[in-house]
Amino acid sequence: MKKVTLIRGDGIGPEIVAATVRAIEATGAGIEWEEREAGLACAERHGTPLPDETLASIREHKVCLKGPLTTPVGKGYRSINVALRAEFDLFANVRPAQNLPGVDTPFQDVDLIVVRENTEGLYSGLEAWLDREQNIAESRAIVTRAGSERIIRRAFEIANARPRRRLHLVHKANILKTTSGLFLEVGREIANDFPDVDFRDVIVDACCMRLVRNPSEFDVIVTTNLFGDILSDLTAGLVGGLGVAAGANLGSEGFALFEAVHGSAPDIAGKGIANPLAVMLAGVLMLGHLGYAGEAAQLEAAVHRTLADGKVRTPDLGGDATTRTFTDAILTNL
Ligand SMILES: NC(=O)c1ccc[n+]([C@@H]2O[C@H](COP(=O)([O-])OP(=O)(O)OC[C@H]3O[C@@H](n4cnc5c(N)ncnc54)[C@H](O)[C@@H]3O)[C@@H](O)[C@H]2O)c1
Repeated sequence: MKKVTLIRGDGIGPEIVAATVRAIEATGAGIEWEEREAGLACAERHGTPLPDETLASIREHKVCLKGPLTTPVGKGYRSINVALRAEFDLFANVRPAQNLPGVDTPFQDVDLIVVRENTEGLYSGLEAWLDREQNIAESRAIVTRAGSERIIRRAFEIANARPRRRLHLVHKANILKTTSGLFLEVGREIANDFPDVDFRDVIVDACCMRLVRNPSEFDVIVTTNLFGDILSDLTAGLVGGLGVAAGANLGSEGFALFEAVHGSAPDIAGKGIANPLAVMLAGVLMLGHLGYAGEAAQLEAAVHRTLADGKVRTPDLGGDATTRTFTDAILTNL
């Protein structure tokens, strides 16, 4: 039995997390959920969006499945997602993008993973005005050798375990000679430890162009924070958009937080029509992380079969099913 912290989240979170818990339990994987709260509804109930007991639970069990959390815009508390990544030093944001059967997209051979550095780069929080009139703004990017080493090594390990064993390091070292240059230099050094991985580097603008022309040339991509943020949404768009995009935030010592890439979707919350797939596929990643590879493969296959049947789909995928009936169909296929 593995213990996992479960955060249902805001908006559509409780609906899609309930569907995911049903599906994971139906695989028979031995998981005991410890429910904890976070987010806007939690702040309204308990006066804080991130209670100590939620942090303590994650610290104890190390693995968390989380629904989306609402972040107030322009006021209130800072993003709880960012706070959780910082608290548990979840330095690797891993986002697979794979074609799903029956989900119509311009390409049918996409199977890649973006590994984004999650803690430094241009998102280090070093922002300033350089003049009193606020006409000149500055953002500083921090890239460290240690931070680059751990994310690039993690990406090499991921690539080494996949059939194609190809890793593209994405950078802008021709212009950003220090920050991107250091990241590229570290990548070339670590490549010596992984002789079986086909290591290449590519400038970020060229990478975007090649991704939208021929995405199947890519297997694993590793890059710094800002480039990874943008590229991983681009790759989600290649395979059907936010409703099917899952992500894992991984740290050292086994810390891992699994979530959908999308937000709390307040426009459809409570209507029972949200697509549960993004968080369910995050659940698949979590099962794999916990050592339940067979159960992960079963749940993924059931999702694929349901989509391939094409009869039952939520409205975002062109159907009229509810979250509940879509989940029922997945469970039948399981
Ligand atoms: N990881 C997270 O917790 C996370 C990520 C992104 C945004 N957010 C937060 O979510 C809130 C809403 O953000 P937003 O509206 O910009 O983005 P959103 O991702 O919540 O919604 C964007 C659009 O996609 C649709 N959508 C999203 N998920 C869907 C699903 N599973 N099924 C069907 N349709 C879906 C929504 O209905 C909406 O039209 C904000 O407070 C934001 O800060 C949280």
